[in-house]
Amino acid sequence: MAKNIQREEKLEFRLMQLDDIPDVLEIEHEAFTLPWTEEAFRNELTMNHFAKYMIMELDGQAIGYAGMWTIMDEAHITNIAIREAYRGRKLGDKLLNELMQTASYLGMERMTLEVRVTNRIAQGLYEKKGFKPAGVRKGYYSDNNEDAVIMWADLPAHGASGEQEGSVQKQ
Ligand SMILES: CC(C)(COP(=O)(O)OP(=O)(O)OC[C@H]1O[C@@H](n2cnc3c(N)ncnc32)[C@H](O)[C@@H]1OP(=O)(O)O)[C@@H](O)C(=O)NCCC(=O)NCCS
Repeated sequence: MAKNIQREEKLEFRLMQLDDIPDVLEIEHEAFTLPWTEEAFRNELTMNHFAKYMIMELDGQAIGYAGMWTIMDEAHITNIAIREAYRGRKLGDKLLNELMQTASYLGMERMTLEVRVTNRIAQGLYEKKGFKPAGVRKGYYSDNNEDAVIMWADLPAHGASGEQEGSVQKQ
């Protein structure tokens, strides 16, 4: 009888480049009702020195991305998304983990984000990673005037738990 061989999938993280933008826009449009434009991503990658963006590749295909601004010792997540067909496979968890480790590697002590009050899936992910609600921004989202929950997490000191270094290097 033929053996059931399970092929291992190769998961990699790397810095986002300008030529990733078409893939990123596809994921962005699947994920958000107020998607960022091509120009917004281009500006982030070329003009914003606080911005760090990473791509998650599965078998060489970009299936997720995440970004943050690192200011003083605080990292502010700007966006995180997984391609729709790949959600629910713990990939968002791995991507956020990588972002948090990278922030910690860069010397960040805390991390914050805004999330729609109705986005229970993302809130579940954030809570799982240690984020706690810390306030509300009223009418933050301009498409439906929805409130944002502000969440914060303390980041472990780099190397404190023996974790691997993030694969995104300091620029
Ligand atoms: C939020 C997002 C990145 C999560 O990625 P994912 O790969 O689907 O999530 P994971 O499989 O890693 O799950 C991580 C946790 O998220 C939550 N979660 C994921 N899918 C869920 C679902 N269908 N229902 C409820 N909670 C869910 C759970 O807390 C889960 O942990 P658990 O599996 O231990 O219960 C993804 O859903 C996405 O891209 N959404 C659209 C963009 C978005 O909302 N981004 C956040 C903006 S603030």
